[in-house]
Amino acid sequence: MRAICRRLNGSDAEVFQALRLESFRLEPRAFRFAPADEAHIAPDAVAARLTRDFVIGAFNADDSQLIGVGGLAWGDGAKTRHKALLYGMYVKAAHRGSGAADEIMEKLIDEASAKVEIVTLTVVSTNLRALRFYERWGFRAYGVEERSAKNGDGDYLDETLMALRLKS
Ligand SMILES: CC(C)(COP(=O)(O)OP(=O)(O)OC[C@H]1O[C@@H](n2cnc3c(N)ncnc32)[C@H](O)[C@@H]1OP(=O)(O)O)[C@@H](O)C(=O)NCCC(=O)NCCS
Repeated sequence: MRAICRRLNGSDAEVFQALRLESFRLEPRAFRFAPADEAHIAPDAVAARLTRDFVIGAFNADDSQLIGVGGLAWGDGAKTRHKALLYGMYVKAAHRGSGAADEIMEKLIDEASAKVEIVTLTVVSTNLRALRFYERWGFRAYGVEERSAKNGDGDYLDETLMALRLKS
């Protein structure tokens, strides 16, 4: 079943926030954030983020449920406007391998290609599925931040830094 993808806007704040918190809760070894980091963010602030950033949502064609997301945050400094940060890639487990993640990524890369020269991201180094996914889209690893996040009790996460050059 193909997902229907579109840019999320302020009116999607509630479902976006719910899926983002779900991703932190269900995949604690895939993200540097915990639910507590963002659970308190008010709907207005989430809506503002969706207006400022470029966030794509994938909706199940059957029941219109939001099943996947991925976003771009634009560099806003005078010297960083040529870059965007790709963040928050998440597809519900039942829809992984369905092509939904590719559809999200295609829209993100289309938008980034029109606006910036480089897209960067970070991915937990043990998250081989995500690493493979990003490599397939042309991202290349350029470093590792050791102990980038700490889940507690000595459970550290290293993050691989990746970049995609859109213009040489
Ligand atoms: C990352 C994510 C969005 C990718 O979506 P997806 O639908 O799973 O991606 P795809 O199935 O299209 O691609 C995954 C690739 O990894 C491969 N793969 C699957 N399991 C793997 C594993 N254990 N080791 C290595 N590669 C693996 C798949 O074969 C596929 O590669 P291929 O297209 O060359 O065959 C999704 O897995 C997800 O939401 N994961 C949990 C959250 C997460 O990790 N987010 C990323 C944060 S940086």
